[in-house]
Amino acid sequence: MEIGVIGAGHVGLTTAAGLAAIGHQVCCADGPENVASLRRGEIPFFEPYLAEIVGKQLAASRLRFTTAGEAVRLGRALFICVGTPPLENGEADLSEVEQVAQVVAQEATSPRLVIQKSTVPVHTGRWLQQYLKQHGRADCEVASNPEFMREGSALEAFFHPDRIVVGAESPRAVSLLKAIYGPVISGQFTCPVHDTCSPRGAVPFVAMDLASAELVKLASNSFLATKISFINLMADLCEATGADVQRVAEAMGLDPRIGPAFLRPGIGFGGFCLPKDVAAFVKVAEKFGCDFSLLREVEKVNRERVDRFVNRIRIELGGLRARRIAAWGLAFKPNTDDLRNSPALAVVRNLVAEGAKVRAYDPQATERALAELPALQACADPYEAARNAEAILVLTDWDEFQRLDWRRLKECVSHPLVIDGRNVLSHDQLARHGFRYISIGRVSAGQVAAALTSVT
Ligand SMILES: NC(=O)c1ccc[n+]([C@@H]2O[C@H](COP(=O)([O-])OP(=O)(O)OC[C@H]3O[C@@H](n4cnc5c(N)ncnc54)[C@H](O)[C@@H]3O)[C@@H](O)[C@H]2O)c1
Repeated sequence: MEIGVIGAGHVGLTTAAGLAAIGHQVCCADGPENVASLRRGEIPFFEPYLAEIVGKQLAASRLRFTTAGEAVRLGRALFICVGTPPLENGEADLSEVEQVAQVVAQEATSPRLVIQKSTVPVHTGRWLQQYLKQHGRADCEVASNPEFMREGSALEAFFHPDRIVVGAESPRAVSLLKAIYGPVISGQFTCPVHDTCSPRGAVPFVAMDLASAELVKLASNSFLATKISFINLMADLCEATGADVQRVAEAMGLDPRIGPAFLRPGIGFGGFCLPKDVAAFVKVAEKFGCDFSLLREVEKVNRERVDRFVNRIRIELGGLRARRIAAWGLAFKPNTDDLRNSPALAVVRNLVAEGAKVRAYDPQATERALAELPALQACADPYEAARNAEAILVLTDWDEFQRLDWRRLKECVSHPLVIDGRNVLSHDQLARHGFRYISIGRVSAGQVAAALTSVT
């Protein structure tokens, strides 16, 4: 099928590359500068496998980059994947969606299915349908197809999603979306980029009305954020009581009604989506007279995580001024170079503001972080960052931090102290190498053994 994708950011480019890989003919649009660099094969951000798959689809002529006007003229189905950043009051800024609506109204030459993939407030689809009708495009139908991809594993989420949700008012629109995603829904599609990927079971295709589909995304992210803030508060309680949050979370997660995901405490959630979606959800609820102040608490707990962590560092080091600190991780999560609302960067920013000397390493995001925080000393690897450090901080849970040579690190640092803001390292391993290890809400195996002995 001829498909237009408007917006070539994290969601748009992944969607365009994925749709091309499952056999569609895709025109992907963005601003002229982005289009020019994408045509040269330059991907503006890091996402595993994306450069390879975009390159393959360009070479196979199934994907091309163009203007929004051309994408609208050529695509029978149009995916809107532009940004919906937060306004100052927390509401979603829909100006980019409105620009796309104008282009669709001007450029569509025959009926189009306009599919909203950007995260938008409930009833945006209804507004868009109305707008198109008022501008002489009553033959264009609007559908919602909320995106659940996770940066860092975006293509995995495209080819093997947990579910595909669509909201539409006509069976025709639902059928078209089902056809578009056919190979993915069948679960028999072998993802073209992973060597290890094999066909899996069928993917649930969940069709509903427009408004419900629009709510699913904000509700899902708000729920996940609630889980994170809940476990972060549990970590505080565990620290206060001498309990171990990891054990508590493991046992909680075994209950299928709860599940183990998103139950790891740390320095809080960030990124482009979770914080803005929670804020937008509160605004949507307010607009419709529903009190979702529960989520205000979720936001408050999250905001406090960075301060609490920095305070812990301050206490451990007896102040921050002129302290030599190694920061491992800057991106808001692993496998991305995205720094938007990164708690890791917020920690580092606070440390630098208080006069600490921070040597930082991130496998992908160091260069971007330098542009935002020039006082940072960028390092090429974790060992260089740890040189002469009084404390090493783990701020993003990149896998490589679990495979380091701790003997070598012991020789790098001036004080063997690790403060783990992501609870990814092992107390016992670090203790064996002579490091003092502080994590969030956990007790060491040694402490557990001591506690058990004192009980028996
Ligand atoms: N990033 C995620 O993990 C994620 C996950 C799920 C949903 N979402 C949602 O998807 C939407 C897009 O997010 P993103 O992370 O891809 O944003 P992004 O900022 O990475 O990409 C948006 C792109 O749209 C382009 N754009 C803006 N106006 C345009 C126009 N008129 N014509 C053509 N291109 C235009 C921008 O230049 C940019 O490249 C947002 O609503 C977001 O909330 C994001």
